[in-house]
Amino acid sequence: MRASRYMLVFYASIIGVPLLLYLMLIADALGAQLVGRALLVLASLGLIAFGAMGFAEVWAHGPRESADVAVEPRRAAAIPVYHAERGGGGRRIVSFSVARFIGEKKAVEREAYRVEVDGHSTVLSALLSIKERQDQTLAIRYSCRMGICGSCGMVVNGKPVLACETNALKAAEGGEIDVEPMYGHPLLKDLVTDFDDFFERHVSVEPGRYRLDSREKYAAKEAYKQSREEIDRYLPYSYCISCGLCLDACPVVNSNPEFIGPQALSQAYRYHADSLDQRGEERLLSVDSLAGVWGCEFAGACSKVCPKGVDPAAAIQLLKGELMKDAVVGKKDK
Ligand code: SF4
Ligand code: FES
Repeated sequence: MRASRYMLVFYASIIGVPLLLYLMLIADALGAQLVGRALLVLASLGLIAFGAMGFAEVWAHGPRESADVAVEPRRAAAIPVYHAERGGGGRRIVSFSVARFIGEKKAVEREAYRVEVDGHSTVLSALLSIKERQDQTLAIRYSCRMGICGSCGMVVNGKPVLACETNALKAAEGGEIDVEPMYGHPLLKDLVTDFDDFFERHVSVEPGRYRLDSREKYAAKEAYKQSREEIDRYLPYSYCISCGLCLDACPVVNSNPEFIGPQALSQAYRYHADSLDQRGEERLLSVDSLAGVWGCEFAGACSKVCPKGVDPAAAIQLLKGELMKDAVVGKKDK
């Protein structure tokens, strides 16, 4: 708790004034110069004046905290998080058109909102401001608010993006900000889609380092080392955060639900290319089909929308190359 400015001076003057008077007495006894005494008198008068102002403050309002901390702690903590208009310059009121799933009608309708945003506001912070101040029924999924968890994917102005990484002012440059749920996943409510199917596809390629000896983790004989080249082979594909945007952008997934899609295939390549993985041919052969790599028409939309710079389109072509290599040299019994 901080005391007010005047009250601090008031308390200081209670100690300071007698101290200065005492110093004056000593100066007098020692025969100090006139200038020195005059300065001490001026300092005493200054402190008395501030003390009187502090006294007047206490008299008028009683002892209390200063106005700048008279905010409820929970609310103070929430301000930087939820108030889309706080934090930066260039404030502007922007219009949002948000897709809402109307349960009773079983239909998607548009709802219009207006939010004041600034240069630091993201589409997610603006939507959270709408949810906090205008419409608590709006359903949004999010967690980290920093492009890490991959849970705030949605379609903004027709493009699949992470809402927490999309600047609201920039998105409003063309006028209204249009917000919809992702197209490539079943709709649950408003902007929230179902990811069960997405994770089933992901798991189908066995994304993990498999070792032939399952007990070696309890008794490793040596350190698992990889050279720089071995790491570089899979590292660009290991940045995937499973946001599902690539799946949403993929024209093949949206027309052929059998196709397991760019995310799962990029992860198949990530583990296939890992020198510490011993799954080998098995994983590669599991994607050797029209539902796997041969379903890809190389539209490249997946790589364009990926917020983490993963290039699923390239991963799929590399998987095709691996399969072709095996077929050509006759390693594989087809
Ligand atoms: S590859 Fe990119 S767009 Fe696709 S799920 Fe992973 S991070 Fe998201
Ligand atoms: S909230 Fe985590 S990526 Fe957007």
